[in-house]
Amino acid sequence: MKTLKAVILAGGFATRLRPLSCTRPKTLFPILNKPLLQWIFERLAKHKITEAILAVNHQTEIMIKNQKIPNYGVKIKYSRDPPRKPLGTGGPIKKAEKLVGYKEPFLVLNGDIFADVDYTEIVNAHKEKDALATIALCRVKDPSRYGVAELTENNRIKRFIEKPPRGTAPTNLINAGVYVFSPKIFESLPRGKAFSMEREIFPKLAEKGELYGWLFDGLWSDIGKPEDFLEINKVLLTSVSNLPKPRNVKKCKMEEPVACDEGVKIGENSTIGPYTVIGRETVIGKNVRIKDSVIFPETVISDFASIENTIIGEKVFIGKGVKIGKGCIIGDHVKIKDHVSIANNVSICPAKEITENVLEPTCII
Ligand code: GDD
Ligand code: MG
Repeated sequence: MKTLKAVILAGGFATRLRPLSCTRPKTLFPILNKPLLQWIFERLAKHKITEAILAVNHQTEIMIKNQKIPNYGVKIKYSRDPPRKPLGTGGPIKKAEKLVGYKEPFLVLNGDIFADVDYTEIVNAHKEKDALATIALCRVKDPSRYGVAELTENNRIKRFIEKPPRGTAPTNLINAGVYVFSPKIFESLPRGKAFSMEREIFPKLAEKGELYGWLFDGLWSDIGKPEDFLEINKVLLTSVSNLPKPRNVKKCKMEEPVACDEGVKIGENSTIGPYTVIGRETVIGKNVRIKDSVIFPETVISDFASIENTIIGEKVFIGKGVKIGKGCIIGDHVKIKDHVSIANNVSICPAKEITENVLEPTCII
């Protein structure tokens, strides 16, 4: 396993997480106050994977470098899609061919997935079968949003269908976005063009009997939709022990589970939680109510504000007595004036100043 490498696909565009994804790629969204990519590096290191190749676009590369994420000893290289020419989910793998080399099977990971996968086990399963490609599979209720696999003897995948229309999926076993490929896969991938592994390559490999599945039932989530992002934070809040607590908190009520990063301040009579994650250096005033929400770093939430089931970006200013309804997404650097009410399901683009009530679901651009 010494030279095992991983390619992390991180150059996609996250439309459903807008406006928060306008200012950060999905792989940098914080999960329990740690960028998703940091969770991935941690897991790679745990399984002795020595090198990660980040398949990015120019903008994503800059944002990842700016974050200075701990890499836990994993060597990081970048493989960039050409300017204004995203290569899809397949092109970046072919582009990383030389960096990956031909010695050993390698991992490919979707960079927007939280997956409690044992990389050592999936690599071993791949080698035992002498497969060309092995896909980690997990079970979900609604497979129509994902790639669906139909298995036959010996965990061979006989059919792979990307995002089948609702109700037509042959199974609820889905592509978890974690693969092991043998270097021979490069022969099946076209050079210098955009293509989809899931639509153009996997169905053909399945027909030829070269595609295998590896089932796992650990924690898994694609963070692509706001409700999924809130849900994975919620699930981890209940499963991770020793969550950091804020220091110097006077007379406020914490309804567990709550996670607070370094430098968080909370005023008197505020009630925080349950299921709430507060980012670094966020300052919360007195008599504030926050539940079921994720607040990114360096935000200010003034006295008597109330927030429920919402994601709030970085360096947001929320005035006194502001009420934010459920299902809202507030972009980075937004300012909301004192006593403004925001209805349910409102999205506000970065750096907007909101001075009046927003009475119905809308996106303020
Ligand atoms: N470099 C690069 N360039 N990366 C890309 C590009 C691109 O043009 N397009 C997408 N990616 C990256 C994304 O950043 C993401 O990490 C990964 O490839 C998958 O792309 P998504 O756009 O998130 O796909 P999806 O969520 O609709 O479906 C995929 O993931 C599902 C699991 O969540 C498929 O692999 C499905 O089969 C799978 O079930
Ligand atoms: Mg995705």
